[in-house]
Amino acid sequence: NYYAILMAGGVGSRFWPVSTQDFPKQFHDMLGTGDTLIQKTFHRLAKLIPEENIFILTNERYNDLVFEQLPSVTKRQVVLEPAMRNTAPCILYASLKIQKENPDAVMIVAPSDHWIEDENAFSENVQEAFNFCSQNDALMTLGIQPTFPNTGYGYIEYEKETIETGEPVVSSVEVSSGVRSVNQFKEKPVYEVAKQYIEQGNFLWNAGIFMWSVKSVVKAFKNNQPELFALFEKGIAVYNTDLEDGFIQENYGKAENISVDYAIMEKSSNVYVIAADFDWNDLGTWGSLYDKLDKDETKNAVVNARTLTEDASGNMIRTKNDKIVVVDGLQDYIIVDKDEVLLIFPKTKEQDIKKVLQNVKDKF
Ligand code: GDD
Ligand code: MG
Repeated sequence: NYYAILMAGGVGSRFWPVSTQDFPKQFHDMLGTGDTLIQKTFHRLAKLIPEENIFILTNERYNDLVFEQLPSVTKRQVVLEPAMRNTAPCILYASLKIQKENPDAVMIVAPSDHWIEDENAFSENVQEAFNFCSQNDALMTLGIQPTFPNTGYGYIEYEKETIETGEPVVSSVEVSSGVRSVNQFKEKPVYEVAKQYIEQGNFLWNAGIFMWSVKSVVKAFKNNQPELFALFEKGIAVYNTDLEDGFIQENYGKAENISVDYAIMEKSSNVYVIAADFDWNDLGTWGSLYDKLDKDETKNAVVNARTLTEDASGNMIRTKNDKIVVVDGLQDYIIVDKDEVLLIFPKTKEQDIKKVLQNVKDKF
């Protein structure tokens, strides 16, 4: 009864110029390991879930990329969205399709673009969550120990006692796993609030990975997003039939643009968390990629390039075709060369790459 939904419809604009609207980061080998991020994620999930029960949700413009990179998947497993509406609509739509196929399904929802090294620890955490969700009406999250007031994440305020053992957590610095009730889920708080959460201690970052029974997630949408629910419920009769595509082409664009975090997680009272036992990185920016890559002796991270450096460290360097890059007197910069674009940008301002991309689009 185990299923997975792999979300692969984002654009990854902070990884420009490598990640573009036509070829976003989940379809790139960002780590230089030979596998693209979506391939890595698919194989991680396939250790836990029968391959035929892994569904890939993405925009219709990425259809060809999905089949090229995951040649074993069938058409049934690829759920295409005719419009970009963020994660809530696609999760509800796919959940209703899965519910029609198997009303007892228990599923994991996973982003396609994260870095997780310890796959065994990941599997154990997910298995524990699956066991809990099979027996309880629960929306389960995986929590990551926060290290700074990052305003790009969701925050999870957990109860100090675990549900199975009732053992109190002694230190908030290292939270042991086990299922905990969640008092509050807050998506992307402002800096001051994030800072206060971290000082308070019993908060984890939301890893963006969710587990639940299909019954529980459909109920959560029905209760908290009645309009969205009504829109996709109208199509139930045609899901998994030849008439489905027509219905979706006509109706998908009417869905509100909202993420699953705001749509159901912030509003539900049956949220639970397991503190992740694995190292996690959401590979959201060039800097977070730099942190995860092996560094050379001068502390530069280099992908697809040969470098000659002098008085240069902390740089993230990537070219397309093993270009020779000579750097002298430059610290903590992003240097990315791709086709017609060369980006040289300080790591401290990496969040602004999104805005720069907009300016470039307007100008050229
Ligand atoms: N299919 C589909 N359709 N996938 C989408 C869409 C869409 O319209 N929009 C985004 N995605 C995919 C992205 O490719 C990514 O894999 C995942 O959904 C999450 O979207 P992001 O846009 O990256 O979300 P976020 O990073 O702002 O926030 C989420 O992740 C954080 C952890 O990385 C939230 O869940 C936060 O609470 C969480 O902390
Ligand atoms: Mg993200």
